[in-house]
Amino acid sequence: MEDKILKGKTVVLGVSGSIAAYKIANLASMLVKKGADVHVIMTKNACNFIHPITFETLTGNKCLVDTFDRNFEFHVEHVSLAKKADIFVVAPASANVIGKIAGGIGDDMLTTTIMAAKCHKMISPAMNTNMYENPIVQNNIEKLKEYGYEIITPATGYLACGDTGTGKMPEPEVLLSYILKEIAMKKDLAGKKVLVTAGATRERIDPVRFITNYSTGKMGYALAKIAMLRGADVTLVTGKTQIKKPDFVRIIEVESAGEMFDAVDEEFDSNQIVIMSAAVADYKPKEEASEKIKKKDGQTSIILESTKDILATMSARKKNQILCGFSMETENLIENSIAKLEKKNLDLICANNLKVEGAGFGTDTNVVTLISRNWHKELPKKSKEGVAADILDMLIYMYNQSNAKERDADEKVYQ
Ligand code: CTP
Repeated sequence: MEDKILKGKTVVLGVSGSIAAYKIANLASMLVKKGADVHVIMTKNACNFIHPITFETLTGNKCLVDTFDRNFEFHVEHVSLAKKADIFVVAPASANVIGKIAGGIGDDMLTTTIMAAKCHKMISPAMNTNMYENPIVQNNIEKLKEYGYEIITPATGYLACGDTGTGKMPEPEVLLSYILKEIAMKKDLAGKKVLVTAGATRERIDPVRFITNYSTGKMGYALAKIAMLRGADVTLVTGKTQIKKPDFVRIIEVESAGEMFDAVDEEFDSNQIVIMSAAVADYKPKEEASEKIKKKDGQTSIILESTKDILATMSARKKNQILCGFSMETENLIENSIAKLEKKNLDLICANNLKVEGAGFGTDTNVVTLISRNWHKELPKKSKEGVAADILDMLIYMYNQSNAKERDADEKVYQ
């Protein structure tokens, strides 16, 4: 993803008194590296766990603690910062600060500023399990949810008090994902459902062997992640991969082409944009041996039979979906891919040549030619996330165009 993806965004971090407060230094630093203007507001108790100078050094901004601080930068400080914020994250949020925000109490810089903030607000509770489970705290959390605050569910694990249970603040990387989900990209896929397939399928030969290919799933995972960041409700049907699953995406793990078919079959109708980037096996062993096949002298063979073509089957029953396939070739890229586009009746096919430098399996970049019915366009070499963004731009455009056509047709019938 683009390094400075949060450039121009203001993130306000509210830090309250919990041992996890020190971890927010890491979060602040990651946000600054992504280009955000980060402002930290601490409660007085938080200062017992980490010094404001740490945050000032990391963010380059004054760390605010006391509402009546005379040495301030903003006009009426809590109101100005509240107006400027694109997102306000209270992490770690102690039971005390949650109670104050839920009860409408503003008696310090953090609570007065969040009260004045109209941006998206997130709360990451961090406390002892018994405190977290206390019905008063739970009621306060419910109340905040009703007012539109997003609550980041605490993790379970060993707590600083020696107990093991729920109440741990998630790691800074997780908090960063929550923030990126909210403010990293324009939400031009909000309200849309996007289905993505990714990775290689495995076709079993016997209990220890299978047929597969070199696909790592990186391109499909990038598509799922960027679609999620752009506001879509994303389902990712994935073969086995070694890479990190994208956050905030519904994941359906499958093994074989048959299982992938069933999963896509189940999901297809409810999605508006469907992108099949998986490298699906075209053949599978006719029979899977129930015991390990033993070595024999001389040659041997496995009888293969065709798998079902998922894309072609879905395309035959598509209604208003925009359907995008992938085509990986080693020669005659454009001709072969146009043939696939036509045969499978697709709106778009993303073609790449395995032999081109910067394209193919396992790379972080791709060199893709987008092919539609009427045109084709080669994109420059880009990161797979950059390519994903370009593909989604095109699919959104196509979706809007086809919907506009349908609207026009409906209006004509109506007139
Ligand atoms: N595909 C599919 N089901 C299959 C095989 C492929 O849905 N059983 C999809 C892939 O996910 C991809 C597209 O079809 O989006 C093209 O896949 P590709 O393997 O390049 O093409 P094939 O149609 O299998 O043709 P060939 O292998 O001969 O190039």
